[in-house]
Amino acid sequence: MAQLWGGRFTKATDQMVFDFNASIRFDSRLFRQDVEGSIAHAAMLARQGILSKEDKDAIINGLQGILKDVESDRLPIDMTQEDVHSFVEAKLIERIGDAGKRLHTGRSRNDQVALDMRLYTRERLLETDRLLKGLLEVLLHTMEENLDTYMPGFTHLQKAQPITLAHHYGAYFEMFRRDRGRLSDIYHRMNYCPLGAGALAGTTYPLDREYTAKLLGFDGATRNSLDSVADRDYLIEFLAALSTIMMHLSRFSEEIILWNSNEYQFVELDDAYSTGSSIMPQKKNPDIAELVRGKTGRVYGALLSLLTTMKGLPLAYNKDMQEDKELSFDAMDTVTDCVALFTGMLRTIRFHKERMARSAMNGFTNATDAADYLVNKGVPFRDAHGIIGRLVLYCIDRDKAIDELSLEELRSICPKFDEDLYEAISLKTCVEKRLTLGGPGKEAMRKVIEEYRAYLSEDHNTRRRLPMREITDGNRKKDRRRSI
Ligand code: ARG
Repeated sequence: MAQLWGGRFTKATDQMVFDFNASIRFDSRLFRQDVEGSIAHAAMLARQGILSKEDKDAIINGLQGILKDVESDRLPIDMTQEDVHSFVEAKLIERIGDAGKRLHTGRSRNDQVALDMRLYTRERLLETDRLLKGLLEVLLHTMEENLDTYMPGFTHLQKAQPITLAHHYGAYFEMFRRDRGRLSDIYHRMNYCPLGAGALAGTTYPLDREYTAKLLGFDGATRNSLDSVADRDYLIEFLAALSTIMMHLSRFSEEIILWNSNEYQFVELDDAYSTGSSIMPQKKNPDIAELVRGKTGRVYGALLSLLTTMKGLPLAYNKDMQEDKELSFDAMDTVTDCVALFTGMLRTIRFHKERMARSAMNGFTNATDAADYLVNKGVPFRDAHGIIGRLVLYCIDRDKAIDELSLEELRSICPKFDEDLYEAISLKTCVEKRLTLGGPGKEAMRKVIEEYRAYLSEDHNTRRRLPMREITDGNRKKDRRRSI
């Protein structure tokens, strides 16, 4: 809908200009947040005596009606409007007349969009956090069940030392726990309300910004009106955290893909989480893991795109900032889908434990332990390292493992070897003896697992009632505000 911009303009916007400028195609996602922000604003205006009680009631009822009608699909969002803010205001005026024209008192679309986007991002952040918690639950469950499931640990993708599946998963538990920590930091930094900043310089109306902030579940109001309308740091931080989550998921995906390959055969993906080939009947492809790995790129893209958009912008609002939405929405959707699907895939994956243990037994994963054995017999570590190196070479020539050699053979290389070597370098000993805090030994792992259980039972996600509920008498379907 080409628009005549009030008295300053003598002709309507060119249609192509209007379409290029319009954002409703994507910012209609902010509809509910726009209505919630408007309700809080109207309540505050009335409390400050800027709006009469009658007008406030008409506005809030009108807004609630619009919300209900749109959410129940009785009212379609009018895509010919420029943006979601214009749609809500126009619809309100159409429904309640002059009172609706007073809603925008002391407000600009600049602080309005800053608020809506912050409310939306806050919800998506909490949703991401909940999904990560679900993923951690699955990881921890698998860890608890697999304290004795031996597998090779790798460096340079070469077998290095034996570990357990619990230990391997524990590494990812740490990564995703840090990801949640990042989300929590961002939440606490971003949870301030920009509404009341006006176009850039506040307003002459006696607004109570702290009151609006409280109604909307913020920890307070922002402290500089220029920054309030110009800040997109919180979104950049969130995209950076999402990128890190994807980086972690992508590394994990890569391992699942390897483990699922014919060469490894460590895992069997559930049929529901894998796909077949249209031509090769024997194939069972790890498409979910591959797609998660592949989609990592678009999330990084969203981060780089917003950083680039913001880098040259003078204060305060510039239309460039409308570009903060489409790719961010895509990144948020991508990450929630990826975490949810990955969690489902891990919940149903099966492990070929025998094969994993056998794989841990070859490849000289006990060579370090053999060297440590000699150290315990008084050989300096550097010398022991050299002796075991020669021993490995001897084994490779004969296609044998260290513990397959006879005591005579062992002694021909170093007379310090005794019968007790076999026990000292068995797979079980190699793992169980590694009791350093953070190591794979069962007792060490048990302690860490206990901590993880306690961490997951902490209530990071308690639902809290929005204070605004008292004003809107519970019309809204869901209370999405949570603490983190
Ligand atoms: N659609 C705009 C955005 O997303 C809303 C703010 C418009 N403000 C303005 N001064 N034109 O940024």
